[in-house]
Amino acid sequence: MESTPHHIFERQLTGFAQRIEAYLDQLLPEGAARAPRLVAAMRYALLAPGKRIRPFFVAESARLFGVAERSALQAGAALECVHCYSLIHDDLPAMDDDDLRRGRPTVHRAFDEATAILAGDALLTFAFEILGSAETHRDAQVRGELIAELARAAGKDGMAGGQMLDLQAESENVADLGRIITLQAMKTGALFRFACQASAILGQAGTAERAALTVYAERIGLAFQIADDILDVEASSATLGKATGKDKAAGKATFVDLLGLDGARAEAQKLVREAKDAMRLFGEKAAVFSAAADYVVGRQK
Ligand code: IPE
Ligand code: IPE
Ligand code: MG
Ligand code: MG
Ligand code: MG
Repeated sequence: MESTPHHIFERQLTGFAQRIEAYLDQLLPEGAARAPRLVAAMRYALLAPGKRIRPFFVAESARLFGVAERSALQAGAALECVHCYSLIHDDLPAMDDDDLRRGRPTVHRAFDEATAILAGDALLTFAFEILGSAETHRDAQVRGELIAELARAAGKDGMAGGQMLDLQAESENVADLGRIITLQAMKTGALFRFACQASAILGQAGTAERAALTVYAERIGLAFQIADDILDVEASSATLGKATGKDKAAGKATFVDLLGLDGARAEAQKLVREAKDAMRLFGEKAAVFSAAADYVVGRQK
């Protein structure tokens, strides 16, 4: 097996993915569901093979602040629920109209549109049920802060707002860099920001540490979406597990559209450098965040 830094990081991420998947599986069991079809659709989306990069960041930042693994798994699981809800709704015919996700038929294809909408709704609300549980943190004030932060990340000034701007940009056809940055920072960056802030909240980290993680998350969030837009052009649907070549066809406002592939790659590299610089204050402990930054732009899927 190869052991370049990239491969070492990928093995670490895969190992974590198995842990969080087992955790998600037991948080949302199949048995005893009052609406079995709804839970089946939620589990179908949640347990499909994703990279789990967002909860990975929760878990790794937990190490920086000595946060208990259980707390980090709870926050990571909640975040993955919001992410999976966003994917279900993103794939709906009214949005990106996609048939394939994580190598499988999308939820509205495997079930039906109404079930997909409800599964998304129920995953979003389940996230807050998870965060509200005493398992997440013994202090209700800390849980409250976490809930407010995830709500902000998911809502009108975060993911949902960004998805709105993404759809509007399709028909308006006036892409400028500032607009694309705002849109992508909201639709994708906001959840990465929560991924890197959750453990700072759980561990009641200091201002400087929180600020460093915020800069890191903002750069990584944007770089992650740029990589997604590059992969939409360059990768195969078989590798990616979702349709490709769709952004151009739909007239999406992306960095690739504006700067070309090389320009977008250069922008992503610049963001990676800035992300790594921001984490310097953590010294040795920042190594995994450096590797993660390289992975975000170097990934094949
Ligand atoms: C896809 O996210 C949606 C974007 C924000 C680009 P991921 O690439 O993390 O998807 P999964 O979770 O691995 O399927
Ligand atoms: C979606 O961006 C980001 C979300 C909030 C789900 P994309 O529409 O580019 O994500 P993919 O390519 O379908 O995964
Ligand atoms: Mg979309
Ligand atoms: Mg999409
Ligand atoms: Mg995409």
